[in-house]
Amino acid sequence: MSKFLIKKSGPLKGEVKISGSKNAVLPIMAATLLTDEDCEILDVPALKDVDVMCELLSCLGADVDKELEKNRIKVKAAKKIASEAPFELVKQMRASILVLGALLLRTGHAIIHLPGGCAIGERPIELHLKGLKALGATIDEEQLLKGIVDAKADRLKGASIYLDFPSVGATEVIVMAASLAEGTTVLQNAAQEPEIVDLANFLNKMGARIKGAGTDTIKIEGVEKLHGVSHHVIPDRIEAGTFMVGAAITRGRILIKNMLPDHLKAVIAKLRECGVHIEFTDNGVLVDGGKNPLVSTDVKTLPYPGFPTDMQSPFMALLTVAKGPSVVIETVFENRFMHVGEFNRMGAGIRTEGKCAIIPGNKVLKGASVAATDLRAGAAVVLTGLIAEGTTIVSQIYHIDRGYEHFVDKLKELGADIEVVED
Ligand code: UD1
Repeated sequence: MSKFLIKKSGPLKGEVKISGSKNAVLPIMAATLLTDEDCEILDVPALKDVDVMCELLSCLGADVDKELEKNRIKVKAAKKIASEAPFELVKQMRASILVLGALLLRTGHAIIHLPGGCAIGERPIELHLKGLKALGATIDEEQLLKGIVDAKADRLKGASIYLDFPSVGATEVIVMAASLAEGTTVLQNAAQEPEIVDLANFLNKMGARIKGAGTDTIKIEGVEKLHGVSHHVIPDRIEAGTFMVGAAITRGRILIKNMLPDHLKAVIAKLRECGVHIEFTDNGVLVDGGKNPLVSTDVKTLPYPGFPTDMQSPFMALLTVAKGPSVVIETVFENRFMHVGEFNRMGAGIRTEGKCAIIPGNKVLKGASVAATDLRAGAAVVLTGLIAEGTTIVSQIYHIDRGYEHFVDKLKELGADIEVVED
């Protein structure tokens, strides 16, 4: 098994270019199944999750031409599409559920074993199913009890749907399914994440009629057919946020290129509260963590445009060394404090109570053997490793490959002392 060996590094300095968004490209790849014509996706990050989605699409019957060294994928789903997603792939990646609507539309039947993915809470999918039922699908309740989604529909019909929680995945599945349903769908309390907007832009280019993506009400007028398109994926806001914290925690100065600051308003506001200097320039976003003292602030995660749950662990890494105590409240996932145990091995002294973590701050962290307990927690412990005294060894780094393109190379380029070692 590979591990990271990280030594205390000086301030990160230089430039970094942000890759295409993982969470935008996965639903867009699923949406290529909605047409039998050629689709081209550009700025695709070379990530494990993208590999798994490519494999899933080709197992389902699509022709996938993967050129990740050029950050490009071409998909043509012209042949007969299968109804069942192979369990071996689905269990590797929760986002596999995103093909649910496409399978129903293309084959009238979808069978998917409930997926794994990050170990951050139960992550149910009742909202995806509520939406599909409203559109006219029937779900086999007995199979569902066994953890298998078995959905059938001859023809989906537009409906009025209210989501009890603005789930990103449920919004994406419903928007895809409604695009080819008969009539109009109105989706209320929809997720408003930038990745939803990117998916809607992709579908609209394909000929869909979607309005309101990026707000809490999305209106979709179903169309008869969608056609092939070429599309550039938006930059990854979580990768950008992680490098912003990288500049802050190491008291460094990084120019972040290909980042859309509008997608990171909450993170930028919170970093500024901590004393981090952030400047928007023509060449990118300049983040300077060395200009002012680092001070604490409180953070509460929320659906977009609130503070992103995916930035919670990297931000907590920063708070461990900021001056003064802080409180982090996680409201999106029920079990997303697994990194706390890892930070505490390095001397962070954090206490958790339910959804709250109390961070004393003012710590000098010490290198330790820690684990990347999930994707974002993995990036977070790497950041703490960069400032901890001595050496930090990070295990389970395969989680990080799921979501950060060329993470080690990008960090090294900025001056980090990080190596991949084999056991
Ligand atoms: C997506 C992102 C993930 C991010 C998350 C929240 C992708 C591939 N992944 O995940 O990186 O952390 O959004 O921003 O885009 N829920 C229910 N019932 C449901 C659906 C969701 O209770 O039917 C709950 C989940 O358990 C979780 C919360 O809602 O606690 C958020 O889930 P959701 O927004 O669906 O996240 P994902 O789409 O899985």
